[in-house]
Amino acid sequence: MAELNPETTRNQAEKAIFAAQNLKDLERIFSYYLGKKGEVKKFFEKLKTVPAGQKKDWGMEANELKVFLEKEIAERKTVLEKSSSRRGKKKFFDPDRPGRKPEIGHLHPLTQAKREIISIFTSMGFNVALGPEIEDEWHNFDALNIPKDHPARDAWSTVWVKSSGEKQLLLRTHTSPMQARYLETHQPPLRIIVPGKVFRYEATDTSHEAQFYQLEGLMVDRSVSAANLKAVIGEFFKRFFGQDLRFRLRPDFFPFTEPSFEVAMTCLACLGKGCSVCKKTGWLEMAGAGMVHPNVFKACGLNPKEWKGWAFGFGWDRLAMMKYKIDNIRLFNSGDLRFLEQF
Ligand code: DAH
Repeated sequence: MAELNPETTRNQAEKAIFAAQNLKDLERIFSYYLGKKGEVKKFFEKLKTVPAGQKKDWGMEANELKVFLEKEIAERKTVLEKSSSRRGKKKFFDPDRPGRKPEIGHLHPLTQAKREIISIFTSMGFNVALGPEIEDEWHNFDALNIPKDHPARDAWSTVWVKSSGEKQLLLRTHTSPMQARYLETHQPPLRIIVPGKVFRYEATDTSHEAQFYQLEGLMVDRSVSAANLKAVIGEFFKRFFGQDLRFRLRPDFFPFTEPSFEVAMTCLACLGKGCSVCKKTGWLEMAGAGMVHPNVFKACGLNPKEWKGWAFGFGWDRLAMMKYKIDNIRLFNSGDLRFLEQF
């Protein structure tokens, strides 16, 4: 005889009970386990032969098994009884009842935000350029005045991709490499935005994802200034958020711009009063920006004496979070319909 094991019997019985489709099935299961010569009986019979010291435990286990199976079978019985009586009733067909509306999908909130951003910038004369998500070291770093072994590289925790041949590949850590790619292949004057996915080798929290989105902007002409940059950002904010909100530029550092700025806007959650979203400061950092560094022009074969430019890099998912009042960046990729259906 196979070794008696309450755990095994319990698991088998549970599966069988759950699988029972009608009351007849269930009766059969009942007599197999709990009948006069059923499986559970064997446990009580074995009680006579187990050593004295184990009798108490064994007896308790056998009893628990019995009580458990009785309860499970009774519960399943109620379920099956209900469904069989429902099946018996004749269904009432109501020909006037309106049909069920089919569920129709819609654009993801990030895509909605992207389309709106694109339409605002194209109306200001910007072209949309897209770049590769697997980038080379040159465009992601070197051409942007971030040489090898330069400590500034540490600011972008990088996911490196095993590469064949000489070119070291990586998942782009920002959309800025598209500045270099575009300048290498286009003659200024030019104006572009680059919406795109970027990657960082980092842990995630409510405002950081290892994969997120940026919106790069670049304008190059014979004479453009930080005042142009400020005007374009102001116009963009006004149209994207539907209000004339306060924003500010403060000195910052990026290797590819000089001078560099941090762009912050009034927190829309508290209108600048200070709340948990803006960590009580009333301001939210939305972008890095600055005047294109002469070394970037040089790396792309352009004469920095002839051309001037500005650039910015927004968190595009941050823009969407502010606009739609979303407080957790991870919701975007959660696939949770309760979240997505709100947009
Ligand atoms: N690429 C920067 C980052 O990912 C953001 C940035 C800063 C972009 C300044 C720019 C810029 O175009 O001018 O942190």
